[in-house]
Parts: sequence; C-alpha cells; structure tokens
Amino acid sequence: MSSLANKQILLGVTGGIAAYKSADLVRRLQDAGASVQVVMTPAAQEFITPLTMQALSGYPVHTQLLDPEAEAGMGHIQLARWADLVLIAPATADFMARLSQGMGNDLLTSICLATAAPIALVPAMNQGMWRNAATQTNLDILINRKIHIFGPADGGQACGDIGPGRMLEPLQIIDLTSQLFTTGSLAGKKVVITAGPTREAIDPVRYISNYSSGKMGYALVQAAIEAGAHTVLISGPTQLAKPARAKCIEVTTAEEMYAASLLEAQGCDLFIAAAAVADYRPIELAPQKLKKGDSESITLTLIKNPDIVASIAALERKPFTVGFAAESERLVDYARAKLERKNLDLVIANNIAENHIGFNSDDNAVTVIDKHSTVEISQRSKQQLARELIACFAQKLASQR
Ligand code: PMT
Repeated sequence: MSSLANKQILLGVTGGIAAYKSADLVRRLQDAGASVQVVMTPAAQEFITPLTMQALSGYPVHTQLLDPEAEAGMGHIQLARWADLVLIAPATADFMARLSQGMGNDLLTSICLATAAPIALVPAMNQGMWRNAATQTNLDILINRKIHIFGPADGGQACGDIGPGRMLEPLQIIDLTSQLFTTGSLAGKKVVITAGPTREAIDPVRYISNYSSGKMGYALVQAAIEAGAHTVLISGPTQLAKPARAKCIEVTTAEEMYAASLLEAQGCDLFIAAAAVADYRPIELAPQKLKKGDSESITLTLIKNPDIVASIAALERKPFTVGFAAESERLVDYARAKLERKNLDLVIANNIAENHIGFNSDDNAVTVIDKHSTVEISQRSKQQLARELIACFAQKLASQR
C-alpha cells in the first residue's frame, strides 16, 4: 500500500502558469490512494477553472474565505482540520511572501495559519523572482518554520528565461509527498497492535460485543508501517480492509486475541492495545440456539476474560506497552488507575461521553498519560492522531532504552 493511501491532501493552487499541472497532480494523488480537496486563490482561477478541479477531485472547490455557505459546512477551520497535509502547487512568490509574514488575507493563507498538519510548498516562478533577495529571505523564514519546500527545478521557463523556478513534475511531487509520510522512526522495531472488538458467543447465532470499528487500531497500524516497523495487526471482526504491509492475524474472541498476542509478543518492541476486548464471556456456549421460553427474563452467567495487555506488561521481557482507556467519566483518574494496575508505560484515554470521537467515529481526541505527565491531543482524524501517537511512542521507546 502506498504511504499516500487514505491520506487527505488539501491541494492549494495559486496563480502561476504551472497551475495547469495541478490538474494532473490531483489525478496522481488519487491514483496513489489519497483524497484531494482543492483550494484556489483568485489568481489561480485566471489560469485554470474551479470546474476542472472540481470534476477531477470529486469535491466542490474552495475559493472564498468569507463564504457564509462554506463557513456553515467546510469553512477554513474544518478544512485545516481535515487535511493530513496542505500541499501548495504551484506556490507563487506572492504566496510565499504572504505566508512568511503570517498573513491570513485569503482562504489558503488562513488554512495554513490554522492547520496542525504539515505544509509543503512547490514553488513556481520566473528565475529572477526566485533569485530575488526578498523571495530568498521569505524562503529562509518558511524553512525555519519547518515548512517543506519541493524544488524548484532548473531549466527553460514559460517566459523564455532559463534558470531555477520551474515547478517540479507531478510524479516528482508525489515521490516527495510520499516521503513525508514515511518517517523511519520505528525502523527495525517489531510493533504489535490489537484492534477492533472481540465477540463472545452465547449460542451459535448470538454474541456479546461492542461498537469498536477498528479504525483507531488500523490507523495506528498504517502509521507504524510508515514509521518503518515490522508491524503485526491482531484484529477482531471489522469491516476494514487489511493493511497490505502488515502481518494480519484475524481473531474473534478475547481468548484468541490473548493467545495471538502472547505468541507475537516474542521479540516485540512496542505493544499497543487499541482493541476493545470484552471483559467477560458467557461461562458456557450453548450448543444449540437458545429457545425463547415462558419466563420473562433469563440469566447469563459470565466469566472474566484474560487481561491481554496486563499479561503482556507482566512478561519478563516486557515490550514498551501502551493501553487505551475508554472512559465516560473521570477520564484522567480512571485512565491513570489502569496505567498503574496493568503496569503500562502509557495509556491513551478516550472520552467516550463526547459525540463524534471514540467508538466507530472517524475522529478522536485523547489524553496521553504516563507516570509523570498528562498531555491532551485535540480532535483530529484517527489517521492524523495515529501518526502523532506513533511519533510519541517512538520517541519514548528511544529514550527508554
Ligand atoms: O475501534 P474504533 O471504533 O476506532 O474505536 C477506538 C476505541 C475507542 C475502541 C479505542 O480507541 C479504545 O479506547 N480502545 C480500548 C477500549 C477499551 O476496551 O478500554 P478498556 O478500558 O476496557 O480497556 C483498557 C485497556 O485494556 C485497553 O487497552 C484494552 O485493549 C485492554 N484490555 C481490556 C480487557 C482485556 N480483557 N484485555 C485487554 O487487553
């Protein structure tokens, strides 16, 4: 799977002749598996129409900062949150100047100010404009702010000049964009991740389970792969496609997840328990479908399942062990209690009382808790969050050893 698979790329197009190449770029990004939304400056619309970009991207094109309709739907803050990457191609000298000064006088600069996602610029301009001291000073400011700069290429220009300032070709941009998502921070490490729910059978047609979709765990798997880890996914039943570059072990029950986890814990450096494991299972499985009797109620006797993450944390050769905690009240207190009781290195607490995050949502917001600190990460897509969490785990793992 490409490292751009399932990524949400916000493509900013500013007013340069190279804007015609942005249409091809949209297609190439989609071919690599990304979703693309396009923001165009007024000058960009002089070179290529929003209609072209809309037809290619499959989304309405965003052009106005002060658009009451857009503000109610996909306003600049929502777009800033939606993006895994803000990619601006072509980026003109004027846009670089405005960005370097922190201006927010149009939709695209406002998104750049608001976003927590990385920003990459693909400059395109006349060679004299590129070499100009003002542009070079702006470039230094942007590089110091950790904005990625792709190119420009050297060569013949539309105006007849020869020199630096040509926009990179779409395939070169795709290569560099993919590299941004491939960090290498877990190169050589084995990472095991549990994801999804477990199902505990009552009879041949009924079971106890929960609303976990597996999205959080699968996003962590993708981020671990991109960080260079040998990644093992132990998944309960989900509707999600299995990641191509991970070893995938499908299980149904907590006991199966426990057995697979203990096996895969061998040689494991980082164990992440994102699964929502059933704490209890019916003490016995009815061999035939239970029949509705005369009585108004029935009693099901349950027995405790093994605690998977606590068992991993109790191993003599314990990997760096991360648990999740889904809490509906006293989030930090209850999560910290789990950290201590299960001997975890970190616990990631979800507030499941909040709408739009936690179980079966596309977004999540969490609190990262270790023995000494509590750090909140605000709401963002599970993919973005997973990349931040994996970077955090990799850093802690490196400093621990
Ligand atoms: O799958 P999604 O729809 O994307 O939703 C993500 C999520 C909300 C399920 C996920 O982010 C999450 O919070 N997972 C843990 C939910 C949970 O079961 O929490 P818990 O408080 O019951 O368990 C605490 C920890 O112990 C978890 O790491 C859990 O995997 C682990 N556990 C629990 C019971 C058990 N028998 N064995 C375990 O390993």
